[in-house]
Amino acid sequence: MTKLKLLSIAGLTSAVLAISAVAFAADGPHDKAIKARQAMFQSYSFNIEILGAMAKEKRPYDAEVAAEAANNLSAAANFGQSQMWPQGSDNATEGNARTRALPAIWETFPAITDKGEALKTAVAALVPVAGNGLGALQSAMNDVGASCKGCHDDYRAEKK
Ligand code: HEC
Repeated sequence: MTKLKLLSIAGLTSAVLAISAVAFAADGPHDKAIKARQAMFQSYSFNIEILGAMAKEKRPYDAEVAAEAANNLSAAANFGQSQMWPQGSDNATEGNARTRALPAIWETFPAITDKGEALKTAVAALVPVAGNGLGALQSAMNDVGASCKGCHDDYRAEKK
């Protein structure tokens, strides 16, 4: 092998090492739990956006799609979360760059569970009516949206 080739391989290796060191530094101890709960919230949001667009008549009402989205939202709202919120996975603890979860969640626990119950109750009222026509969907959506906001106001940081 020529000297030039060896040098460029060495250069490449140190570049790769530098990249993996950065990736390692960005991985906090609670990243998996944080990603899992954020994926759950993304699933809330995907389904509520479908329902919201129909309720606001920005997309044609479709009973089957509405029923499916309401069922999906219900499944996601009823996820067991006992392993998704480890101590120290708040946004004030160093190493948790990806989270917007406020320390108040842990400081005032179990107060947040009331907010989760409010969502479950609102979704339980939505599920049986989402496929029963636009008016029925519209009337059940307010409480669902309000339950999202109710929790975010107290427990989620604004986007940076
Ligand atoms: C019991 C409290 C609670 C309820 C109810 C709640 N959220 Fe959240 N949500 C949070 C918290 C806390 C975070 C921040 C999570 C994190 O970054 O670790 C969050 C984050 C999110 C995110 C950002 C996810 C990401 O990828 O970073 C979305 C989107 C979201 N919520 C949508 C919703 C919708 C839609 C509803 C209602 C159907 C809802 N949430 C109900 C507490 C709640």
